[in-house]
Amino acid sequence: MERIDNIIKHTLFVENLNQNMAWEAERRFCRHDLAHFLDVARIARIINLEERLGIEEELLYAAALLHDLGRHLQYSDGISHEKAGAALASKILPDCGFDRKETEAVVEAIISHRGQEAEERNRAGVKGQNLANVLYRADKAGRPCFLCPARQDCHWGEEQKNLVLRY
Ligand SMILES: [Fe+2]
Ligand SMILES: [Fe+2]
Repeated sequence: MERIDNIIKHTLFVENLNQNMAWEAERRFCRHDLAHFLDVARIARIINLEERLGIEEELLYAAALLHDLGRHLQYSDGISHEKAGAALASKILPDCGFDRKETEAVVEAIISHRGQEAEERNRAGVKGQNLANVLYRADKAGRPCFLCPARQDCHWGEEQKNLVLRY
C-alpha cells in the first residue's frame, strides 16, 4: 500500500502524531496514538472482508490513520478533533497520491466519526456499507473497555463500552 507508506512518512502526520503523544502522556483514558490508529485500520479491514463491502483498503487505512490525528488541537485550541483531523487529512492526502474524490470520501468519514447520526445508526444496529460507517464501527470496537482501569470514570455510556473482547 504505497500511498499509506506515504502517509506515515508525511511530515504533518509525524508531527501531529508526536503532539498527540506529548499531550496524552499522562492520560488515564483512551489514547489517540499509532496503536489506536492501527487497531482501527485492522478492524476496519476485518469488517470490510467479513461483510464483503469491497471498500478499497487504502481508503480504510487512510481514514483510520488520520481520523484522530488532530486530537491534540482539541486540547490546545478547543477545536473538535474530527474537524482538526479532517483539515489535516485534506492537506496530507493529495500529497500522498489520493485524488479529489478519494480525499473527499476520507475527509467526510473523519468528520462524521463522532457524529450523533452515526451513533444513533450504530445503536439501532444499522450497518452501513460505506467508509464512514465502517470507520465509526471500527473506532468503537477497538477500545478494550473490559480491562480499562479508568472505565468507571469514562464518558462513554455503559451500553457503548466494549465489555467483552471483540475482534
Ligand atoms: Fe475520534
Ligand atoms: Fe478513534
